[in-house]
Amino acid sequence: MVNKQNEITSWFDETYTSKGFDYLRSVEAYEIFVRLLEPNPNSKHLDVACGLGLLLKALEGNQVETYGVDISPKAIEVCKEYCPNAHVQVANAEQLPFESNFFDSVSCIGSLERMLDRNQALREQIRVAKKGAKICYMVRNSENFTWKYFQKPLNLYNKKGHQDALNKEKWEKLFSQNELKVKAIYPDHWPYVKTIKTLLPWVKVDAGKIRKFPFNLELAYEFIFLLEKS
Ligand SMILES: C[S@@+](CC[C@H](N)C(=O)[O-])C[C@H]1O[C@@H](n2cnc3c(N)ncnc32)[C@H](O)[C@@H]1O
Repeated sequence: MVNKQNEITSWFDETYTSKGFDYLRSVEAYEIFVRLLEPNPNSKHLDVACGLGLLLKALEGNQVETYGVDISPKAIEVCKEYCPNAHVQVANAEQLPFESNFFDSVSCIGSLERMLDRNQALREQIRVAKKGAKICYMVRNSENFTWKYFQKPLNLYNKKGHQDALNKEKWEKLFSQNELKVKAIYPDHWPYVKTIKTLLPWVKVDAGKIRKFPFNLELAYEFIFLLEKS
């Protein structure tokens, strides 16, 4: 387990060193999480597995006290420069360095499936969140066409970075088993927003707008879960 965790950490350190921000989405893709979380001024927000700090950056200007942790020292080094006002530190999501009932909202974007003990990571996020806190996750969908027919069967997913996926039902079960009330589930908007921006660059697209899509949610690329600590 320790070796696997070290392998994941090294893979992210190397990826952030070689690719930097090119590895991740652009900052406008994180605006949707800000709108879903609707943080109150002077509230405390924690982004677990914050990476280079894109969500923390998107939260700037909302008068929120932002905190972030990531297992990758390289991510935190860059994040400290990119978000100088955020409180960020290296930590494993399975052992958060915060007191209980501290945060008004918590997020974990594109990272929960990378964690070796997801239940322990969830327990920790719930422990540090206040009762009624809003919690937002983006998690990979195993029923998505790309994952189901290419990445998984052809062994094309990233094992060193511990890429994984579950279907909607399994994610829902995992959350409800961990005292989290599901408030809403959305498909990840970014692949569609990005396609429109690429094909029709003159069209102004609001990347943070929460949309209804005319297809089955079960097939979404990733799911965005909005939850509440009950
Ligand atoms: C795909 S990146 C997403 C980063 C960020 N959430 C974003 O959307 O820009 C996954 C992140 O999870 C972090 N990570 C993986 N396992 C972790 C763990 N057990 N504790 C904390 N961070 C972890 C990695 O270092 C990496 O920065």
